Amino acid sequence: MKVPLLDLKAQYRRIGAEVRQAIDEVLESQQFILGPTVQRFEEQAASYLQCSSAIGVASGSDALLLSLMALGIGAGDAVVVPPFTFFSTVSCITRLGATPIFVDIDPEGCLLDTRKVEALFEERCRPNPDGQGLIESQSQRQIKAILPIHLFGQCCPMAPLVSLAQRHRLHIVEDVAQAFGASALPSPGVAKPAGTVGDLGCFSFFPTKNLGAMGDGGLVVTNQKALAARVKMLRTHGANPKYHHQAVGLNSRLDAIHAAVLTVKLRHVEQWCQERIRRARLYQKLFSETGLVGKQIIGLPPLGSGKSHVFNYYVIQVKQRDELRQYLRQQGIQSEVYYPLPLHLQPCFADLGHKRGDFPNSELAASQVLALPMYPELALKQQGVVVQEIKNFYRA
Ligand SMILES: Cc1ncc(COP(=O)(O)O)c(C=O)c1O
Repeated sequence: MKVPLLDLKAQYRRIGAEVRQAIDEVLESQQFILGPTVQRFEEQAASYLQCSSAIGVASGSDALLLSLMALGIGAGDAVVVPPFTFFSTVSCITRLGATPIFVDIDPEGCLLDTRKVEALFEERCRPNPDGQGLIESQSQRQIKAILPIHLFGQCCPMAPLVSLAQRHRLHIVEDVAQAFGASALPSPGVAKPAGTVGDLGCFSFFPTKNLGAMGDGGLVVTNQKALAARVKMLRTHGANPKYHHQAVGLNSRLDAIHAAVLTVKLRHVEQWCQERIRRARLYQKLFSETGLVGKQIIGLPPLGSGKSHVFNYYVIQVKQRDELRQYLRQQGIQSEVYYPLPLHLQPCFADLGHKRGDFPNSELAASQVLALPMYPELALKQQGVVVQEIKNFYRA
């Protein structure tokens, strides 16, 4: 039996008629750049995410870049970020001439380790004389923001970060590319849509995401009117009014055709998140029956509670990862490695001066993580086959 990592055709079979009608309406209107279709999607996304502003942009990478630009982050500044994430969480920082200050992840959840952020602030930073932010002693850069990632769909613990940011007057920009629909906990007992806890939240609508467009797309959300206005201006070359440029921005807008598709999918995303969570629970049950969990062979992702993890990816950590992956491929089961090389070891960031061993949890995760098939239409029988084949591999 073939088991794909993701089956977008199965999703399209469920909603094809709705999607085609929505695209047809845009074609009839011939309005492709911004306009009512994009505005309607932005309003509905803001309402779903319970925030005051949602701004459609060209990609998740641009959402991050525009957010840091809106905060005025540039040369001489620094942003705290883990090295175990997708490339653009860090390239958005360096592109602006700012410096990423890496902090390692926790080994189980693979998320920014908030205790290590606190240790960094206590041991290696002093307050900025103007009272805003911190100066990191090694780089002499001014830390202006923390950039946590809700990796794989799992919310980073936000309460400690919110309290650190308040104490040191730092911004928080959330990378929510993989976690549309998840709920974060900004303070004990309070749940908020992931992306709306920090100053700005950055979503990606890359087709593989929980809410995916039929091409590239992204979204910036915020509850701060001034930041929303700034992002809106920056996504259209920094113009306000038209042809009068207050800043050097980007050409980065969500296309109307994608907005139309996303408006349809937004109606389903809550159900899809629940279907993903149910499949993660089933994997958990099936794996725990194999006798291989907790014996240093298979580490399972935390299930969390409620929607704290919406399983954009179901990622296990395993010994002999590459051999297992090869075996699964031979059995017709797709898997993927997010991500094989942490960002502090990427050739393009060599000038940051890091070496192997600097962030051991990120390096270990990079050698052990394996994403298994996960999507709302994944059949129970397929999940059974995936787990059985993994069991066969280790029994052999
Ligand atoms: C964690 C993370 N951040 C940022 C991005 C960038 O999004 P995009 O591919 O839409 O530019 C992605 C998606 O690929 C991602 O997974």
